[in-house]
Amino acid sequence: MKRILVLHGPNLNLLGTREPGVYGTVTLPEVDRHVREHGRRRGVSVDCRQSNLEGQLITWLQGAEREGYGGVVFNPGAFTHYSIGLRDAVAAIRVPVVEVHLSNIHGREEFRRHSVIAAVSRGQISGFGPGSYLLGIDALLSMNSSSGPTGRTASAAPRPSRRRRTSKRRSRR
Ligand code: DQA
Repeated sequence: MKRILVLHGPNLNLLGTREPGVYGTVTLPEVDRHVREHGRRRGVSVDCRQSNLEGQLITWLQGAEREGYGGVVFNPGAFTHYSIGLRDAVAAIRVPVVEVHLSNIHGREEFRRHSVIAAVSRGQISGFGPGSYLLGIDALLSMNSSSGPTGRTASAAPRPSRRRRTSKRRSRR
């Protein structure tokens, strides 16, 4: 993987002044600088984009492969919790997507605990501040390249747990 696209969703342009108790005081240009530097250290070139518009984010996701990106680190912001359009875009593309959040969405209000994006992403990283983006890059780079262009099937449709398989086997005996 030589190029990674980082997408920030709505209101993330306000980082630095937006609810600093939740999101910290680092601005979006500073986050992007850290992310690009991290990429450089890992030997990958990183481009960062932000939009408040759902359609724009969908267009960028759809174009990621054509533009030559090997993976996407995606913070969908509030769209995380309800945008079926973004979910369908992530499901439609072959480029792997890692969902990231600055805050730990699972420790916040009930409505933030559900992500409609998570099931179609390769995975979710949540709660490490700007570090979530760096971990997202590392996650993309650590993916087993032999799993093919999507490899999503495995994560979207997990095999039954070991315990369940074991108990089935037992009940057949
Ligand atoms: C967020 C969490 C979302 O619930 C929220 O709407 C955001 C930011 C995060 O990075 O923690 O805008 O995605």
